[in-house]
Amino acid sequence: MRRPLVAGNWKMHGSTAENAVLIEQLINGIDGRREGAEVVVCPPFVYLPEVVRRLKGTPVRVGAQNVSAEPGGAFTGEASAAMLKDVGCEYVIVGHSERRAHYREDDAVIARKFRAVLGQGLVPILCVGETLDEREAGSTEAVVGRQLEAVLSLAGVASFARAVVAYEPVWAIGTGKNASPDQAQAVHRFIRDRIATGDGKIAGDLRIVYGGSVKAGNAAELFAQPDVDGGLVGGASLKGDEFLEICAAAG
Ligand code: 13P
Repeated sequence: MRRPLVAGNWKMHGSTAENAVLIEQLINGIDGRREGAEVVVCPPFVYLPEVVRRLKGTPVRVGAQNVSAEPGGAFTGEASAAMLKDVGCEYVIVGHSERRAHYREDDAVIARKFRAVLGQGLVPILCVGETLDEREAGSTEAVVGRQLEAVLSLAGVASFARAVVAYEPVWAIGTGKNASPDQAQAVHRFIRDRIATGDGKIAGDLRIVYGGSVKAGNAAELFAQPDVDGGLVGGASLKGDEFLEICAAAG
């Protein structure tokens, strides 16, 4: 039985004051039942220690949005997986499409980041997904397959026993146009089948979450799909009430 997961990716939003209000809403509204969804928030790097402190003793976990592939050294502006662990992170988003597109992160560096996160005992949330052009060209499975393959070949299928995969079609991110439940299910199934070719048990236990314009109004139908195990939520995770509704829709 896979426990659903809902992660809020705050992207480059928030302030000390805004975060305090949002976290207060989450703490007051969260359903902490163990059988409910696991809830994670991923604030910008600079707010991580403060958000960890505010959420201490609550069921809400904290993740980072990015990580260096390097263990340490002269890498100005970067933060290592060990540092993220040190400040209390448990999850790390790896390979978000905004990192791939705006910062030229390729499959190889993303695979190294994934391995660095696991090396510290943290849980990577590996993002995969196709652009609109790629979907229209009929290459969704080729693209997602290639993105998975890079990580599988560096880290091995066993590493997916401690990972989460997020299917985020680029055309659905921040556009208000979510993948239909059927479209999401088809790609989630493809991802699970691909992992199953390496290890059926790991594939069966792997949480595959959907991201891309998840809202309170569409979360339930997306999460009702058999291979959709929750969501990675951008814009709607900044609104306490709506994010709580999405968490409740996951279980
Ligand atoms: P939106 O929910 O704003 O579409 O963003 C999705 C996303 O990129 C989460 O990582």
